[in-house]
Amino acid sequence: MPISFFRGLPLTLAFFTCLIAVEGQGASSGPTTAKYGELGSTSPVDIGLKGINDLQYTTDVVLGGKTITVIIDTGSTDIWVDLQSEEVQITNTTDLVVDDHYAIGEVKGNILFAELRLGPYVIPHQAFTNASNVTGMPPGIQGLMGMAFDTAETWFVMNKTWGEDAANELARGPMTSLIAQDPAAPGFFDLELGRTLANGSEVNGHLYIGQHLASREAVTQAPKLERVSDDHWTFAMDGMNINGQRFTGFNTSAVKKVPEGKVAAVLDSGFSMSAFPKELIDAIYGSIPGAVKYPSLIPGTENSGDNNWIVPCNASANISFVFAGQEFPIHPLDVVSIYNAPSLLTLEDIPLVANATICTNHFFAGDTGDSYDIILGMGFLRNVYASFNYGNYTPPGNAITGELPYVQMLSVTDRDAAWAEYLAYYEETVVEAGPLEVSPEAWVKMFAALDDDDDSGSGDSSTTTSPATAAQNLEVAGAVSDDSSSSSSSSSDNTKYGAIALGLLGANVAVGLAVLAVTLTLCVRGAKARREARYSPVRLPKDEERMMVQSELNARSSERYSD
Ligand SMILES: *[C@@H]1O[C@H](CO)[C@@H](O)[C@H](O)[C@H]1NC(C)=O
Ligand SMILES: *[C@@H]1O[C@H](CO)[C@@H](O)[C@H](O)[C@H]1NC(C)=O
Ligand SMILES: *[C@@H]1O[C@H](CO)[C@@H](O)[C@H](O)[C@H]1NC(C)=O
Ligand SMILES: *[C@@H]1O[C@H](CO)[C@@H](O)[C@H](O)[C@H]1NC(C)=O
Ligand SMILES: *[C@@H]1O[C@H](CO)[C@@H](O)[C@H](O)[C@H]1NC(C)=O
Repeated sequence: MPISFFRGLPLTLAFFTCLIAVEGQGASSGPTTAKYGELGSTSPVDIGLKGINDLQYTTDVVLGGKTITVIIDTGSTDIWVDLQSEEVQITNTTDLVVDDHYAIGEVKGNILFAELRLGPYVIPHQAFTNASNVTGMPPGIQGLMGMAFDTAETWFVMNKTWGEDAANELARGPMTSLIAQDPAAPGFFDLELGRTLANGSEVNGHLYIGQHLASREAVTQAPKLERVSDDHWTFAMDGMNINGQRFTGFNTSAVKKVPEGKVAAVLDSGFSMSAFPKELIDAIYGSIPGAVKYPSLIPGTENSGDNNWIVPCNASANISFVFAGQEFPIHPLDVVSIYNAPSLLTLEDIPLVANATICTNHFFAGDTGDSYDIILGMGFLRNVYASFNYGNYTPPGNAITGELPYVQMLSVTDRDAAWAEYLAYYEETVVEAGPLEVSPEAWVKMFAALDDDDDSGSGDSSTTTSPATAAQNLEVAGAVSDDSSSSSSSSSDNTKYGAIALGLLGANVAVGLAVLAVTLTLCVRGAKARREARYSPVRLPKDEERMMVQSELNARSSERYSD
């Protein structure tokens, strides 16, 4: 089942998916069609990636003659497609049913076969799930293409019914299907994720298969990091630095193959955020003067769970991850999320939108597992050019002789340039265009007031600490000695960030919101505002589901990899 079990795909909005439909380029438009290995290194073909608001990355494939936009996901293997009314040319059908569970969402359907074209390459008979039943996936997404290893649900289902040899042959994912066409050619794909700029335009991402982007050839000189766990692209990380200081709080790795003092990190292009230990989240955001810990869902943002931080918008932290002695600085825009005018709650179907800007942690805490200690999602991958190499892998991949799968990475983030970009982004989206920034402490007090006032207000009933409690136990990072500016009195909030008028615009919503201890302008907007909202909330799986998924996975892997 869920070889890809962690991912934080937030819902996207129809607005963005429309853009994709219009702008999507047919992957068939190139003149060449090739078998894997035939292109050599002479004419690198960029298959191309499109980012959606830095939350998903898609590419266009051609399945059975139809162009389909799929999420690319190094955290899973199966390919599923939601055909709806599209007619694609099938090369074979089966009555085998696949049921793929993701961290968010579930996909169910029959295994079918069809020709699959990826850029210039052709796979004549690719197994895919005809996803007749899709839940919890972003609207408008037509499918998802896994890019990991073959012990996924399709493989398990085929193995059970047709036996292991058939499964090894027929259940391969697109990447390993392709690479199998020429076992003598080096089997790899390269990813570089794009980034959305302040003006909304997108820096192009890249996807190359069996070739490198010409300007990134140096990736072949980078250290080869061998896979340390069978299921995923998981590698030993030396550690990470926060403003030049090594974080020393990691536990001994859960993964046996990881050397003492290192950490097993999964590289997952389908994971919008990250899954870090709570201690690491606190160390990163606690390093930002004036940041306030918020142990609950932050209203109006994607930050669920119980380990969040509200940070001053003009600040970030310099963090970096270290692999085989190579340091990868993280762009400050990947550290902090900026939300203009978040929609805080809904009263009688009318969303209450704060006319203010709030900034939060962009890396999230998440559970660790038996086969990894940390998940590095898009927020890490945007900072590297990564070449994922299958080495001598053949399915099912648990007894590889020769070279193990490995990754090589180049840093693409220049720390000084990135910092300047962050400040420019802040100027543009907050100082010039955005609604007024409000101090982290002011937000916490306002949430507490909303919560006191409206019991049904904050939707996350499963969290441990109420906003009211959070307001009483404010944990402000760093700056206590900094003068009076970050003390918790509301008068200093006002001096630091400027006075804000209180008002409920267009409101005949005569709830007692006037109790707001903090003066914030709230405006009430109609349903239109909801469509314009930049984000809708991420839904993380319930713990039980996650545990179910995990125990199923454990059962399966012990079945399969009993050693
Ligand atoms: C289609 O699948 C069946 C098994 O379900 C197999 O016997 C047959 O050879 C397959 N045909 C092709 C064209 O692959
Ligand atoms: C270390 O392990 C403990 C116990 O499982 C856990 O609570 C804690 O979050 C872990 N710390 C890190 C940094 O992974
Ligand atoms: C951020 O803004 C605050 C308040 O205006 C100011 O005191 C602080 O110096 C700024 N920090 C940076 C890094 O610009
Ligand atoms: C982060 O690095 C940039 C560029 O090197 C520097 O200007 C900035 O002051 C650093 N910020 C912190 C919080 O260390
Ligand atoms: C939002 O705040 C800005 C100032 O930051 C103000 O100019 C504008 O009128 C406010 N809009 C509403 C709808 O309150």
